[in-house]
Amino acid sequence: MVKKKTPQSRRIAITDHLEFSSYLEIAQKKGGLVADRETELRKSTEGVVIIDFGSQYSHLIARRVRELNVYCEVISHTDKWDAVKHINLKGVILSGGPSSVYDDDAPLAQTWVYEKRLPILGICYGMQVLAHQLGGLVSPSTKREYGHAVLHQNYSESPLFGHLDPSMPVWMSHGDQIQGLPPGFRALGYTDNSPIAVMGGDKDIFGLQFHPEVAHTPQGRQILKNFLVDICGCRAKWTPLNVIAEAVETIKKTVGDGKVLCALSGGVDSAVTAALVHRAVGDQLICIFVNNGLLRLEEAERVQNTFERHLNMNFIYVDASRRFIEKLKGVIDPEDKRKKIGEEFIRVFEDEAASIPNINFLAQGTLYSDVIESKTAETKSAAKIKTHHNVGGLPKEMKLKLLEPLRNLFKDEIRGVGRALDLPESMINRQPFPGPGLAIRVLGEVTEKKLEILRACDWIVIDEIKAANLYDQLWQAFAVLTDARSVGVMGDSRTYGHVVAVRAVESDDAMTADWARLPYEVLSKISSRIVNEVPEVNRVTYDITSKPPGTIEWE
Ligand code: XMP
Repeated sequence: MVKKKTPQSRRIAITDHLEFSSYLEIAQKKGGLVADRETELRKSTEGVVIIDFGSQYSHLIARRVRELNVYCEVISHTDKWDAVKHINLKGVILSGGPSSVYDDDAPLAQTWVYEKRLPILGICYGMQVLAHQLGGLVSPSTKREYGHAVLHQNYSESPLFGHLDPSMPVWMSHGDQIQGLPPGFRALGYTDNSPIAVMGGDKDIFGLQFHPEVAHTPQGRQILKNFLVDICGCRAKWTPLNVIAEAVETIKKTVGDGKVLCALSGGVDSAVTAALVHRAVGDQLICIFVNNGLLRLEEAERVQNTFERHLNMNFIYVDASRRFIEKLKGVIDPEDKRKKIGEEFIRVFEDEAASIPNINFLAQGTLYSDVIESKTAETKSAAKIKTHHNVGGLPKEMKLKLLEPLRNLFKDEIRGVGRALDLPESMINRQPFPGPGLAIRVLGEVTEKKLEILRACDWIVIDEIKAANLYDQLWQAFAVLTDARSVGVMGDSRTYGHVVAVRAVESDDAMTADWARLPYEVLSKISSRIVNEVPEVNRVTYDITSKPPGTIEWE
């Protein structure tokens, strides 16, 4: 492929390169300087940070970096150096974002980002931040660029372009663009609409107008790898398994000879948390599992069996099903149900915890996505759709110190840790199950009888999904007991029975989901088994709504 050069890139190639101190001077003038003189990094986990400017994709950049075995954290653009000094920092990535750098209140990078003299990669808005703060010019594009574009290289020798095709498809999504490069920078690549689609200076500072983190930029992974390994010098040795040794050490030191309580939900996060804490402090850990009467068939027994027998942990099983069913009497509104269940869980937990002396710590399975989401929620106002309850919503007044050994890991990384800790596959690969349990799948008032009907239907759905080898491919599959009744015929008699909906969805993170295109034979088997084996049900429907506009659960 012939390498093309734009007239602009030729002109800029001969521009003198400024010293780094000049960058700093400009940066100091452009955005309030927070001069932190700390230069020595504490020797700890090697990695990079992603500075979030409000992009939908920051999370995805973090996933991609971790997939390349480089540790990373997402931080806010307002975070000071203190927020990252626990990392042996090798580089900084500036995310995209919805703002325009020339707006009055546009978020910019803190000056430590430039002062630390680390390699920097600005992505989309992040590139515009670099250009703006380092003395270039950003302005609205005459043509907004959304979707596919073809990137051509001007300087194939740039380390950012190692192992890449000279021209390649990339994904664009921007309204502003770089009009003038900062001093010392040159245009490393261009597209039809963006003469400066990639920029680079001689201080390992780069900007990409496109998004390397999305699947629509097929060689994006290689670009990130070039930046992380060849430019930042990361050794790409980080794996979730590294976490175990480190976490065990930290938990031991933190807990000393204290006692740790862990509320188990039966899900993978709390299970892995318990297994990790158990590895560190053994019998000082006490697990509590509350059976709220809203669980699936044989679920309580399964969890009890795994933890008590298989994993040999201190395990307290509390059968509080009566209390929960009592509280839910006459409750129809979904939010009321959720609140009542959440509150009752806290009361049961308090009652139980009070009977165990000398508990100092509470272990929780908080994930990195929870951490990112709660950070995002602090800065953005999002409409509340549902009050999600899980065992994490424990009483603050208990004054227990929190232990969250998974708070830097994503869900699939947690599964890796679980495997290394010998948790059974059935627990690791379990589909998510909501904290309020079957109560939000029984529409209308929850009664023992309705729960019993739903449990029988749910069992059949899962049984058939597993038999068809589809369980691991689906985010979730389950049955919902609607509050509708329908007329049917069985033998020669009229029936008037319950209507059950089957829901099966595919999703990456539950934020969005698509209904699963289950084979007709599987649907047919599920339907005929339900109406034959559950006498109260005479009609089965399949929910073909995606999220949005639906949600995964019905309530
Ligand atoms: P929705 O219905 O909001 O569900 O699309 C998204 C994901 O979250 C699960 N879910 C919950 N998980 N406590 C939980 O721990 C809850 O209150 C809760 N409500 C929904 C749901 O099963 C799906 O995976």
